[in-house]
Amino acid sequence: MATTLITGGTVVSATGRTEADVLIDGETIAAVLAPGSHLLGTDLAASVDTVIDATGKYVIPGGIDAHTHMQLPFGGTEASDTFETGTRAAAWGGTTSIVDFAVQRYGERVQDGLAAWHEKAAGNCAIDYGFHQIIGGVDADALAAMPGLVDEGITSFKLFMAYPGVFYSDDAQVLKAMQVSRDTGMLTMMHAENGPVIDVLAAQLVEEGKTDPYFHGIARAWQMEEEATHRAIMIANLTGAPLYVVHVSAKQAVEQLAAARDRGQNVYGETCPQYLYLSLEEQLGASSDEWGAFEGAKWVCSTPLRSRAEGHQDHMWQALRTNDLQMVSTDHCPFCMKDQKELGRGDFRAIPNGIGSIEHRMDLMYQGVVTGRISLERWVELTSTTPARMFGMYGRKGVIQPGADGDIVVYDPNGHTSIGLGKTHHMNMDHSAWEGFEIDGHVDTVLSRGKVIVDDGAYLGAKGDGRFIKRGLSQYLV
Ligand code: URP
Ligand code: ZN
Ligand code: ZN
Ligand code: ZN
Repeated sequence: MATTLITGGTVVSATGRTEADVLIDGETIAAVLAPGSHLLGTDLAASVDTVIDATGKYVIPGGIDAHTHMQLPFGGTEASDTFETGTRAAAWGGTTSIVDFAVQRYGERVQDGLAAWHEKAAGNCAIDYGFHQIIGGVDADALAAMPGLVDEGITSFKLFMAYPGVFYSDDAQVLKAMQVSRDTGMLTMMHAENGPVIDVLAAQLVEEGKTDPYFHGIARAWQMEEEATHRAIMIANLTGAPLYVVHVSAKQAVEQLAAARDRGQNVYGETCPQYLYLSLEEQLGASSDEWGAFEGAKWVCSTPLRSRAEGHQDHMWQALRTNDLQMVSTDHCPFCMKDQKELGRGDFRAIPNGIGSIEHRMDLMYQGVVTGRISLERWVELTSTTPARMFGMYGRKGVIQPGADGDIVVYDPNGHTSIGLGKTHHMNMDHSAWEGFEIDGHVDTVLSRGKVIVDDGAYLGAKGDGRFIKRGLSQYLV
């Protein structure tokens, strides 16, 4: 088994930073040592197979993106990243694990939905991967099948209060699924937007000729995110189910989550880079020579980008500081403009929903450190340690300690990354939602289970390096 020593760097965890060397034996971290340590009298650097010099750099646990949608059939098309292309792009960006969403729809068996996702991912991933289960059709069969998922390592499921006719669950269905969550300890993940109200508003806007992408953001009003978040929290309160609200974008929804946690409820939330940086006015309302006002389609996602004038973005950053929001995932769901987003020209309702960001999450969140919004330790916590704990992987993932998988990123704070320009990213998209973003910092070296898969601008991994992560129950709940 090959041995690797990462020397001279600053090892950063969720709780502190220290100058240390990291010894990896095969796929596993063997030791975290005082710099220049001799082990049993031998000079380590001289006796290992590979030495990685991390002088002046941060050594962090590999990123964990707990919300991705590779190859998701959605909006009359399919998300453009396959498990192969999407996980490779993740690796480039310092993410070494994803949790993707397997899909069950009305009339489908949950087990079949899960099997289909295993089929898509197996042998294709560059990094390790787990699954949540979307329950898009809550019926007696689905409810009966859900507890069996725990033994399969699927310990969380997602429900939708949005998308009537697609993945939507009404309140009665939410109640029944949450009762399973209470009984099994599985984490309920919620897309909290009032879909029926939003669909009426959207139809009325289109009727009035307001068909541009901008109106996607108007139809999906923050009031209907706040309302659904509150409703989900109260049904969780009634049942005793633990709740995790995905892609939170409205400051009023954050306040609902914070109030529930203050009451002692097991209620958590994630936000995504797009809700920290991008806005209704600047992106959804964008216009270009190439696309006119349809340019905004690049940023059509749900929940939508919010108004900067209303201050949602600053509020999301603040909530990350105060732990009113616990972590950051991408909701990576890429679609090309050509032939995909274009389906919604003349009617924003037909634009496939989703933004691709998997490659940029670690860099974008590091900018929070650069600008003084979050600490270095909080960066690691939001992007790796909490995702590992929240979704039952901690110990193996999310931490640099003996016995953990050798998933490690060497991050250069003095490096620089220009995003998007001239197709410098590796996601399977014909544009970038992050075009022109300049990043202070650079992912230098990425190890996945002890193997160097990215180094010095070269991809050294292979399709199929990634293995399925059989997750346990959440380690975050109180
Ligand atoms: O716009 C989004 N978020 N697309 C992916 C599906 C979902 O709701 O997470
Ligand atoms: Zn969603
Ligand atoms: Zn999603
Ligand atoms: Zn560099």
